Amino acid sequence: MVSKQAGVGESRADSAAQAVAPDQAEQAALSFAGVEPKAQVPARIFGSFVEHLGRCVYGGIYEPGHPSADEDGFRQDVLDLVKELGVTCVRYPGGNFVSGYRWEDGTGPRELRPVRRDLAWHATESNQMGIDDFYRWSRKAGTEIMLAVNMGTRGLAEALDELEYVNGAPGTALADRRVRNGIPEPMGISMWCIGNEMDGPWQVGHMNQEEYAAAVERAAHAMKLVEPGLELVACGSSSAHMPTFGSWERTVLTQAYEHVDFVSCHAYYYERGAASLQDFLASSEDMEAFIATVVAAADDARAVNKGSKDIALSFDEWGVWNQEVWNGEENERQQAKGLHTEPWPQAPHQLEDIYTVADAVVEGSLMITLLSHADRVRSASRAQLVNVIAPIMAEEGGPAWKQTIFYPFAEAAQRVKGSIVVPRVSSPKLETSSYGRVDALKAVASWDQESGSGVLLMVNRDVESAHQVRVDVGALAGGAGDAAVRVSGAKVLYDADIHATNSAQEPYRVKPVELPVQVEADGQLAFELPAVSWAAIELSR
Ligand code: AHR
Repeated sequence: MVSKQAGVGESRADSAAQAVAPDQAEQAALSFAGVEPKAQVPARIFGSFVEHLGRCVYGGIYEPGHPSADEDGFRQDVLDLVKELGVTCVRYPGGNFVSGYRWEDGTGPRELRPVRRDLAWHATESNQMGIDDFYRWSRKAGTEIMLAVNMGTRGLAEALDELEYVNGAPGTALADRRVRNGIPEPMGISMWCIGNEMDGPWQVGHMNQEEYAAAVERAAHAMKLVEPGLELVACGSSSAHMPTFGSWERTVLTQAYEHVDFVSCHAYYYERGAASLQDFLASSEDMEAFIATVVAAADDARAVNKGSKDIALSFDEWGVWNQEVWNGEENERQQAKGLHTEPWPQAPHQLEDIYTVADAVVEGSLMITLLSHADRVRSASRAQLVNVIAPIMAEEGGPAWKQTIFYPFAEAAQRVKGSIVVPRVSSPKLETSSYGRVDALKAVASWDQESGSGVLLMVNRDVESAHQVRVDVGALAGGAGDAAVRVSGAKVLYDADIHATNSAQEPYRVKPVELPVQVEADGQLAFELPAVSWAAIELSR
């Protein structure tokens, strides 16, 4: 029986003892009864990625001529949106870009910085932004930096130089160069990626697994001789579709186990790349399998090394990206042979995907998956941040706005705190050709004892049907005895047109709206999740 509306209702924690309702036609049930918290929320799981690619840096975070630009040339409108997005840590400066990058080019007086060719994206790199500038930007954005070093055209010696420049105490040549460049304090960057996608045939200086295992072992060993407290990320496979997926991780982690802390994972999904729209919506099943494979490889490496530490996963590129466009352009360029003597463009419009409601639901489900594995996924970077496959779009000299995918990320980053709890789910099923029969509903929650608040994140991945959901929420507040749990807010993102998008002209065409939630007499929450929807329910004691 329905008794109260969202925002005013209370459910009793002791109602959690009741079992999950059996799977009824089109009805889903979630319960936290008897479920132990999975992990504390790792701060870095709400990370993002800024690469020197297209207009992510130039015309994205940095545009000195923009009306909102500050004294450093950073767009304030973009900075405001980055803060609202809740990003905690940003991977920089690539991506494929880093494999041909000379970090020192982006330091010192701007007018003296060399202009170079960027082999990864066939663009001209002005070097008007570099590590010093990005450090200043990250302080304004309130984000940690996760720095990638070049293992393509460079290696160990340059990585050590960069480490000295970035983190060294004044008094040595490179640290003093940083001081002269206006940054007296060591930047204190602790997380470093040793290369990027080194298994990819497209990567400048790519390697086979034995070569990379030896290179990362040596680099990580030397970097830790300098600073044992560094947290080092070894490249994993570029995707689960690489022929060496699994064996690459096993080989690399077994050899470098002692010195590395994370293995990098990358996964992109897009509608046209999936067998059907329903399969696309179920993309998080692929991510589940990806995580299981990499965890198994990391655990094998631990066993072989008779080690005690778990190597964590750094899911440092994830999201929806329509790769067909870039792959097509790249194939054309390679087929065209000949000499490319024409000038390469500066900050071209590249990878500027426009996101739909369906994309936002998929990204919401990927975030739920990452959070559900927070015991091993201790860092993640949604790729990327501005303009390039991004939640934030920015017009040159014009406005900045939120894409559909902004909302599921921001809600998680702002509200998921304390411990992660993965509810027991009883859900109507979906048929997919890629993953078989899967749950329509996916969910994860968090509860923060200190503030006495939590959030429940959900997606309905069903293309056809809305589903009624009942949630036995009381036990989420674990240890709260019979304390009441209130619904303090609820929102849902969906649209009759699942391909609806936002634009500069219509920036709020798609945004979350209030989700009506009822609190029933037995304390359970009841609501309906529309087909292809993402939702968040805020809870408090
Ligand atoms: O994020 C775009 C690109 O995708 C990155 O540069 C690369 O690492 C990956 O292939």
